[in-house]
Amino acid sequence: MNKKNNLGLDVCFMNEDDPYALFKVWMSEAEKNEINDPNAVALATVNESNQPDVRMVLLKEFSNNGFIFFTNLNSKKGKDLKKIPKASMCFHWKSLLRQVRISGEISLITDQEADQYFYSRPYLSKIGAWSSNQSKPMETRDSFLNKVNEYKNKFSDQNNVPRPKHWSGFLLSPNRIEFWKDVEGRLHQRLEYSKVSNSWKKQILYP
Ligand SMILES: Cc1cc2nc3c(=O)[nH]c(=O)nc-3n(C[C@H](O)[C@H](O)[C@H](O)COP(=O)(O)O)c2cc1C
Repeated sequence: MNKKNNLGLDVCFMNEDDPYALFKVWMSEAEKNEINDPNAVALATVNESNQPDVRMVLLKEFSNNGFIFFTNLNSKKGKDLKKIPKASMCFHWKSLLRQVRISGEISLITDQEADQYFYSRPYLSKIGAWSSNQSKPMETRDSFLNKVNEYKNKFSDQNNVPRPKHWSGFLLSPNRIEFWKDVEGRLHQRLEYSKVSNSWKKQILYP
């Protein structure tokens, strides 16, 4: 029989008042179980016509301040977030039959933070960031590959590739984080944390 926490949920939901602490445990379990990219997350944005859009990104950092991903600021998502700095994320860890949903406000990380992560990336990823006009139409695949070669020549010192100004990270500062776990017969378990005057209110939801 499954052990329960004090809300009657399975112990994997823990008795945590801090959703970041619970996220950290669930992410570390995903890292042990997922075959690929446990940090892959669907990111939803909305444009100025109120049209939502969703795509995958990789969560690269998280802390009690929120969740950070990196991208091209001139991409579709970059433009959406500049106009409407709000977003939602949804992780689905199939190996664990778990989901985490996060929503909140978006801000750009500092140049220093962006540099720090950019410099840790492999050479080709850095070159790719320079060469890709992300989300813009491309004449031919070769025109892109030629640009890759041009930037390889321009930045031939592999340890000295600067970060393009159009490439940075966004911080999602959540006001809601929900943890979900599959239960047989669709009697799923849900635990929601919502931010109320700077502290987290915890409640369980019908499946
Ligand atoms: C598993 C996975 C991880 C991805 N990670 C990123 C990422 O961290 N940053 C990014 O800009 N695009 C990432 N992409 C590509 C995006 O899903 C998307 O194609 C691209 O960012 C353009 O999106 P946009 O036109 O909505 O801006 C990833 C795709 C997949 C499938």
